[in-house]
Amino acid sequence: MSNIEYEAKIYDVDPADIAGKLAKLDAKEVGSYNFRRYVFDTIPAKPDRWVRLRSDGKQATLTVKEITADTIDGTHEWEVEVSDMETTLEILAKIGIKPRGYQENKRQEYDLELLLQAARLAPSSYGMEQWNIIVAQDAKLRTQLKKSSSIVNGSRFDASYILVFTAKTASGFDRHMTHMLRDVKGMNTVTAAAMKTGWKHWAKTDFKVYDTPDGLHQWAARQAYIALGFVMLAAAERGIDSCAIEGFLIDKVVAVLESFKLINRDNDLPVVMLALGYRADGSTHPRSRRDMDEIVTWY
Ligand SMILES: Cc1cc2nc3c(=O)[nH]c(=O)nc-3n(C[C@H](O)[C@H](O)[C@H](O)COP(=O)(O)O)c2cc1C
Repeated sequence: MSNIEYEAKIYDVDPADIAGKLAKLDAKEVGSYNFRRYVFDTIPAKPDRWVRLRSDGKQATLTVKEITADTIDGTHEWEVEVSDMETTLEILAKIGIKPRGYQENKRQEYDLELLLQAARLAPSSYGMEQWNIIVAQDAKLRTQLKKSSSIVNGSRFDASYILVFTAKTASGFDRHMTHMLRDVKGMNTVTAAAMKTGWKHWAKTDFKVYDTPDGLHQWAARQAYIALGFVMLAAAERGIDSCAIEGFLIDKVVAVLESFKLINRDNDLPVVMLALGYRADGSTHPRSRRDMDEIVTWY
């Protein structure tokens, strides 16, 4: 049985204004979706009729759509739910029906905002936030990053979002620390200088990360990994999958980021990437962990 789809585009909507009004009405955001859709021509192909296989990450449907008039009630659709999008795609391929298009719609931006806030609020040694995040959105940048990674990681770069975590180098950190103490923490020059002297003593004598430039960079990288963990936890809490990525050629990624003018290697270097997105329908991933008593010593 066909249904009539009532679909209209509403122009001049301010999403923030609408979100505010909904919040006043006590409306709660129920979730966000990552739509993946394949589009097929009918046989014979007709400009006003097409077939769509779509998943919103939770439910998959197979639909025939037909436009009979350019009015709000001019689109008819015949739709069934399918239990498995990939198998349906295979069945159609076996019948000889191949998709003519594939589209993915990213979930709402504010999901990512929340995850980036989790990174921003992460603790760091001396509160120095000695790392940054690049959100790789540009298609050319993503392609270059993908090419700079090991082959097994190729599919990671098709995720909705790729974050590149960079950490300060020794020379980058020196200037960064002054900026943090003076501009972010609001210290006067005297207090900031005293703080820097105290930190230098700790870094050289106590914690021994000051002896080589790489020691300081690795210390900064460790703080970046705390932020990475915070983002991964916040993502998991929202039902978003994540995969940390160290499987890349660091020299190549440095060159790519420099070519896009995203870093200056004297001050910042990439340390880890993070792919974020919703998993393909029904895909599972085996998980193994050591027993607790092998990990933890109670004394
Ligand atoms: C710092 C770090 C780097 C990782 N790099 C990669 C990577 O390059 N490619 C990949 O497929 N998985 C990568 N992983 C994922 C690990 O292989 C994965 O967390 C581990 O196998 C456990 O998987 P599970 O948490 O899904 O059980 C990385 C994980 C971490 C924490």
